[in-house]
Amino acid sequence: MAHLDLTGKSVFVTGGYGLLGSWLVRSLLDQGADVTVLRRDITSRSALVVSGDEARCSVVSGDLCEPGLVERALGEYECELVFHLAAQTIVPVANKSPLGTFETNVRGTWTLLEACRLQGVSGVVVAASDKAYGNSDTLPYTEDMALRPLYPYDASKAAADLITRSYFHTWGLPVAVTRFANLYGGGDLNRSRLVPEAISAALSGRSPVIRSDGSPERDYLHVDDAVEAYLAIAAAVVDGKAAGLAINAGHGEPVSVLKVVSTICEQIGSDLVPDVRGEGPPKGEIPRQWVDPSLIRELTGWQASISLEEGMARTIAWYRDHPGSLPVGPPPRSS
Ligand SMILES: NC(=O)c1ccc[n+]([C@@H]2O[C@H](COP(=O)([O-])OP(=O)(O)OC[C@H]3O[C@@H](n4cnc5c(N)ncnc54)[C@H](O)[C@@H]3O)[C@@H](O)[C@H]2O)c1
Repeated sequence: MAHLDLTGKSVFVTGGYGLLGSWLVRSLLDQGADVTVLRRDITSRSALVVSGDEARCSVVSGDLCEPGLVERALGEYECELVFHLAAQTIVPVANKSPLGTFETNVRGTWTLLEACRLQGVSGVVVAASDKAYGNSDTLPYTEDMALRPLYPYDASKAAADLITRSYFHTWGLPVAVTRFANLYGGGDLNRSRLVPEAISAALSGRSPVIRSDGSPERDYLHVDDAVEAYLAIAAAVVDGKAAGLAINAGHGEPVSVLKVVSTICEQIGSDLVPDVRGEGPPKGEIPRQWVDPSLIRELTGWQASISLEEGMARTIAWYRDHPGSLPVGPPPRSS
């Protein structure tokens, strides 16, 4: 698999306190990188904090969109490599109040890219999403398909995707954009997401509620697989093979919401079964989607290796060990 020597490399990560970022930062640190993370929220439940990894990083506090903040951080820490993961990622929040989502996901992305351009970093990986493709009768999504998003979160990710690639085509910034499938794993603090909410319910003896009819299908990628994919893409950006590209990652096969929640119920070992309450797919969400991961395999040799059963076992084990990080807040409005 494509490999980058990270020893002593100065790496900047936005979104390092989130689901993906926490595990990516751990891997970077374990491989000898000097990691600087951007922290907007005080999140004591984050996997980055509870693991003690935050203490191994340099921390820059502030909002991604704050003028000059990221540029100063990149300069001060002489960052060579940047992973941009920070985003407003919750679909119901985007549907209710889109401006905050556009602000972070679009303005935040151009603010970061401009800082990278001005500071001359040697590799950038920007998280877009498979949601950027929008509804498509043809599946799986391949990278040459048009982006046709319908909803605010999806549109924000498509905008970030296009803007990111313009920085390669216009200024030669060595950047790739990721269009990954649905991620899951320990340390997801977002209660409106299916997996942490269902685990939280089942661990406390409640039947996990499915707000749809359980039929929506997604491609579910465990966060450990996703971290390997990000590192492989970064290596391919730095050696020039992936610069300017948008790259999918996932298993390349769909799994229904009902199957995911049933797997959680079975693994938690209770007599609980999913409480299916909806009819059809939720409003404002794509009914079926999964990605073709051929390009990333060809470019880097990466392929997903963690099955749904194995990934869910790891995820449940993490939440059992960290009950204080189970999601809190209002129950989800869709799944
Ligand atoms: N989770 C998924 O299923 C999935 C799938 C495909 C793509 N993605 C993308 O991957 C990236 C990481 O996803 P995740 O699930 O780890 O996200 P997350 O919601 O767990 O974490 C996002 C982080 O971004 C930070 N953040 C938000 N707004 C910010 C701002 N204005 N300034 C600074 N920091 C800010 C938050 O504090 C949080 O720590 C996101 O860009 C997301 O859109 C996620």
